Amino acid sequence: MEFKHKSVLLEETIEALNIKPDGIYVDGTLGGGGHAYEICKRLSDKGRLIGIDQDEDAIEAARLRLGEFNDKVTIIRSNYCDMKKELANIQITSVDGIILDLGVSSYQLDTADRGFTYREDAPLDMRMDRRQSMTAKDIVNEYSEHDLYRIIRDYGEDKFAKNIAKHIVSARNVKALETTGELINVIKAAIPMKFRAVGGHPAKKTFQAIRIELNRELEVLRDSLDDMIELLNDEGRICIITFHSLEDRIVKTIFKKNEDPCTCPREFPICVCGKKSKGKVITRKPIIPGEQELEENKRAKSSKLRVFERRL
Ligand SMILES: C[S@@+](CC[C@H](N)C(=O)[O-])C[C@H]1O[C@@H](n2cnc3c(N)ncnc32)[C@H](O)[C@@H]1O
Repeated sequence: MEFKHKSVLLEETIEALNIKPDGIYVDGTLGGGGHAYEICKRLSDKGRLIGIDQDEDAIEAARLRLGEFNDKVTIIRSNYCDMKKELANIQITSVDGIILDLGVSSYQLDTADRGFTYREDAPLDMRMDRRQSMTAKDIVNEYSEHDLYRIIRDYGEDKFAKNIAKHIVSARNVKALETTGELINVIKAAIPMKFRAVGGHPAKKTFQAIRIELNRELEVLRDSLDDMIELLNDEGRICIITFHSLEDRIVKTIFKKNEDPCTCPREFPICVCGKKSKGKVITRKPIIPGEQELEENKRAKSSKLRVFERRL
């Protein structure tokens, strides 16, 4: 299947990265290479791009897309949480810019057998990295009712989370849920008829919640942001596009903490904790897509871009 994905906030992100032609840049969520392509175009022969993705299909698509820049591109199949280690393996200890465009690509969502879509029946999978053994089926059939409720409430923000969790447990007590179609039927049964037709597909929020949990999307982001900021050279920037309010909150909070890490009580006249600022938040408010992008790309709807600049 062709790798189709329209990059979100493309111009805004490339502008915010402040690309130096001879610099070293990392795209930690390479996908189809849309953002990476625009970065490569702006690099000189001395510049370099390292693209990371945990999905083998994305790696293949990006290799094709970035083929013309072969000499300056290194592509690595890995999780961006291992960025520091992966860069060290190729003798890179600092970089001039990092981009993360979080979540899944349209290709992943639209490829039925990846199990992300609620539009077709397929095995319950949802792994971005298919080397991982745990799948969505394990979550649906093995998580406690309370844990299912918690993730559907917190990551899916579905007001029927409690009822959906209850219905999943009742259904799997009769027979394990194996496919997206079976899960969708259970979710529909848990949502009162008059609410099923409003706010998009009734399974959308639960699918999002299971995907976020399975791929540890929030933990990975929370645990690796400080390290990524540390990797930046002076005036190097990190640009992060999020699609979920919890992701955006993590980015906002960690950027702020890196700008002002002081933990001294407010009443202290001077700082004695010794924690030094790592740089500056460039976006006090997130950058969001304009009307035209929203019209042309539905996926851009909840996207937000935040930018931090390292100062040594
Ligand atoms: C929204 S797409 C990126 C699209 C890309 N910016 C483009 O313009 O083509 C997100 C990609 O990030 C990858 N991804 C998500 N989380 C990741 C992680 N923790 N480590 C590595 N790759 C990740 C997904 O597999 C997916 O291919």
